[in-house]
Amino acid sequence: HSIDQGVFQWSAPSNIALVKYWGKKENQIPANPSVSFTLNNCKTITQLAFAKKQNQDPSTFSFDLLFEGKPKEDFKPKIQKFLERIEIYLPFLKDYHFTIDTQNTFPHSSGIASSASGMAALAMNLMSLEKELNPAMTEAYFYQKASLLARLGSGSACRSVKGELVVWGNQANIPGSSDLFGVEFPHTIHDTFKNYQDTILLVDKGEKQVSSTLGHDLMHHHPFAERRFTQAHENLDQLIAIFESGNLEQFIAVVESEALTLHAMMMTSMPYFILMKPNTLEIINRIWQFRNATQIPVCFTLDAGANVHVLYPYQVKEKVLQFIQDELVGYCQNGQYICDQIGNGSQLI
Ligand code: PMV
Repeated sequence: HSIDQGVFQWSAPSNIALVKYWGKKENQIPANPSVSFTLNNCKTITQLAFAKKQNQDPSTFSFDLLFEGKPKEDFKPKIQKFLERIEIYLPFLKDYHFTIDTQNTFPHSSGIASSASGMAALAMNLMSLEKELNPAMTEAYFYQKASLLARLGSGSACRSVKGELVVWGNQANIPGSSDLFGVEFPHTIHDTFKNYQDTILLVDKGEKQVSSTLGHDLMHHHPFAERRFTQAHENLDQLIAIFESGNLEQFIAVVESEALTLHAMMMTSMPYFILMKPNTLEIINRIWQFRNATQIPVCFTLDAGANVHVLYPYQVKEKVLQFIQDELVGYCQNGQYICDQIGNGSQLI
């Protein structure tokens, strides 16, 4: 099969890890397994236009990059590196000139990482092109390979291809799990987690001082690395039982501990660093006070930044949103927060 030109458009959501990926080996292989909620509203939408090369150099990648319709030169090296990494899996890449046009549904520089949704959306588009060339491929192969490609763009991106709960990394009690791609959580999920809510409080929208690439690297000579990697396996095992039972007290204990452990790893790296801001801690304390006073099962998690993800069941949405408006908005930069919830993964538009 051959195809001269065409265009695809995919959306892919962001995701929020419950058990955190922090530390990796060669080739974007995670040092420990992780599991995340796929989000619904925070998405990247990417259009990929492709045309067979005419006079362009056949030995190099050829692409233009647009962000919100305007040329974006500073993203190009990242995409170039991604294409180099995945060329062995998609040997046709140098036959085409690509125009990649991408936009996010969440505000630019909100401190919400767009690498997971962005790399997943691009991977989906490239798989659509591969499917044109090789129409016999199964849907299972399509999504698995899309996740594998996304992983090579940004590790956590492999968990944004599918929803609602995605595991990435080998774990004995999770059949089908792999270091190479994300898989949908295969065990029973209690109704408590249906429409689970994530309200993202934007504490600091600035550029992170330490990239996650550097953070992962610092786990190589980290004094607590081995124990941490073992703990991630233990926590994931605990979550298997928790997802089945719907025990939110246990869920909260695992999820909050994971968030604080992630940041503890940063604080105990050499060099050490702190990504939380004073308002991050204010919010955490307010959440704890509110939970103690009301017994409403609301908790927090953090990614590699200062923003706080407030997680809670759909049933308590109104009460928690009221609490956020009354007590937490004041700690957000410009009072900004984003309401999201667990979602289904990438979609062809
Ligand atoms: O995918 P990366 O390399 O940007 O790393 C993401 C790391 C965390 O967001 C902190 C944790 C995770 O599992 O998503």
